[in-house]
Amino acid sequence: MIKLSPSILSADFVKLGEEIKILEKEGIKYIHIDVMDGMFVPNISIGMPVIKSIRQNTNMVLDSHFMIEKPERYIDKFIELGCDIINFHFEATDKHMEIINKVKNSNKKVGMTIKPNTSYEEILPYLQYLDLVLVMSVEPGFGGQKFIEDSLIKISAIRDYINKNDLKCELEVDGGIKLDNVEKVLEAGANVIVVGSDIFEKEDKATIINKYNEIFKNFR
Ligand code: DX5
Ligand code: ZN
Repeated sequence: MIKLSPSILSADFVKLGEEIKILEKEGIKYIHIDVMDGMFVPNISIGMPVIKSIRQNTNMVLDSHFMIEKPERYIDKFIELGCDIINFHFEATDKHMEIINKVKNSNKKVGMTIKPNTSYEEILPYLQYLDLVLVMSVEPGFGGQKFIEDSLIKISAIRDYINKNDLKCELEVDGGIKLDNVEKVLEAGANVIVVGSDIFEKEDKATIINKYNEIFKNFR
């Protein structure tokens, strides 16, 4: 099943509660939360108190994307905060299996993310242990960037590996996705689609979400 995971990075944080209610009303299941530390990426976004507030205000799946150095320092905290999916970056740590096991033992879902310049082959050995793999289609750090076309090759290759090995891992893509390129991303094999600016910069969010859902109907 194809899922839309709206990234709140482009939301109006003064109205975050209202915006979350709109997403719920439109039947959105996942909400993508970008956490940045100013070290792993050259930007600082939101952190623990915001995740806590979101958790208290929604039952949507918290699809949290941690762009932070040495994420192993905070895994216990992310679990305690109620993140449902904990995505950490392959490039940010050398404790991959330690993190995977900790998240899985807490009955949360674990995702690993790769930046545009990281080869997809690096992540293949971990796929059997992951609930989700996240392919970045822009350099992480900022919303509103242009989709990197080479990501499509990576997405297709990972999709082939998942299917050939009959893995349960979801394939998420994040960065630069708009109504006019989402079909290419779906055709390449993604099943979780992150959209930030294309939703949150629109006044009428319901209409744009419906347009995405119409496109999704043509894919499994
Ligand atoms: C970038 C973030 C993305 C971002 C996507 O580092 O991981 O989730 O918010 O925003 P758009 O859809 O505007 O590229
Ligand atoms: Zn993200």
